[in-house]
Amino acid sequence: MIRVLIADSNPPSREQLRAHLASDAEMEIVGLARDGQEALQLAHQFRPDVALLAADLSVQDGFQTAEYLAGVGYLPTQSIILSGTNSVDQLRRAMRSGAREHLSLPVNRADLVKTVREVYQEEQRRHTPSFAQAADPKKTTKVISITGAKGGIGKTTLATNLAISLAQETREPTILIDLYVQFGDVGMLLNMAPQRTIAELATLDPSEVDEQLVADCIAQHESGLHVLFSSKTPVALDSITVPCIENVIGHLKQHYRYIVIDVPPILHTTTLYVLAHATTALIVANLFDLTTVNDTRQLLQTIQGKYVAREKISVVLNRVSKQNRLQVSDIESTLGYPVSAQIPNDGMVVPGAVNQGMPFVVSQPNTAVSQSIRQFARSLAGIVNMEKTMMMSADELAGGRKRGFFFGGQAARPEG
Ligand SMILES: Nc1ncnc2c1ncn2[C@@H]1O[C@H](COP(=O)(O)OP(=O)(O)O)[C@@H](O)[C@H]1O
Ligand SMILES: [Mg+2]
Repeated sequence: MIRVLIADSNPPSREQLRAHLASDAEMEIVGLARDGQEALQLAHQFRPDVALLAADLSVQDGFQTAEYLAGVGYLPTQSIILSGTNSVDQLRRAMRSGAREHLSLPVNRADLVKTVREVYQEEQRRHTPSFAQAADPKKTTKVISITGAKGGIGKTTLATNLAISLAQETREPTILIDLYVQFGDVGMLLNMAPQRTIAELATLDPSEVDEQLVADCIAQHESGLHVLFSSKTPVALDSITVPCIENVIGHLKQHYRYIVIDVPPILHTTTLYVLAHATTALIVANLFDLTTVNDTRQLLQTIQGKYVAREKISVVLNRVSKQNRLQVSDIESTLGYPVSAQIPNDGMVVPGAVNQGMPFVVSQPNTAVSQSIRQFARSLAGIVNMEKTMMMSADELAGGRKRGFFFGGQAARPEG
């Protein structure tokens, strides 16, 4: 039932509105008000879903009444203004008052019922979990793309270790996508063999790729991280089209808080699409290779402001050591960007973890290289200090894992 309050100072008009709504089985008239003040009293008393307010209500006009109703947080009531004219001025005033709709009088029965129903249904939609999620910046998905100007600079090392750190530090559903359709290394670093892949989804029409098909491609790493591979064997770069990746990411956003994407260092429609739609675009560079510095500068100049907003770009320095020929300040001024994270060079731990098939943030959590990535994950997640995570209730910690098949058995492993 849609509970409606009718407020009109003109008795025949009020009766007409009542008769129109009374003939619809879904409408329940909870009050008939003769002026604006009475409308407010009845609204507080009966908490209607919708208030029909004549613009020229006495004592307090319909616009003022709508404004008041919109301002009272604890009332569910949505207003519809009814006025004798359809002038732009009336529409503007209705809009400014916070009313959801404007109808011109006289109104026929069908239009009135349809408008009341639409206003009610829109309000119901605002209370669905997906709407709440989209409207809450603390709950929206963060898409973190990781790329760089070259191969071999540590993109995949950062992507895998950062994704695991995000999952463990935040206990939120996190997925890593290996977007390398040729020679992706995520499988090797995680010791996992791709089964179903995005390349298979790409052969289907995007309209056929539903949530279940995407879910079928998701693999789970023993750390709790979820993983989506692009291909089993090298395929052409454009095998994964923009509509395909857009569709896949769209489905993932319904279920994951963090989507980390290992993006090949190739400017191509699909990679540019991913960079353009990332919440944060991480660019990996280093301090010891002058060609990398130069290529990174060119990459930044190509993408910034054209594909990616400047504020979304973050430069990460990998393999930082005392032996580096350049200083951090040199690269910051050359690139025109501050460095947001520095990952130390560790010629033992990093290659050792690759041989072992277990990311170092899991196998060697107390090393400097692991600590730097965990710290970076915390800052990306907006976790200021560890106490905050520790203070989360058990329900909050478990929350993300109860919401559907995507997180079936995701482990929330506390890590020291
Ligand atoms: N911080 C580091 N310290 C030492 N070696 C590193 C570090 N980061 C990456 N490496 C090594 O550099 C090589 C390339 O790393 P990788 O992540 O595969 O780069 P990319 O994905 O950019 O091609 C690997 O052998 C890796 O072990
Ligand atoms: Mg790589």
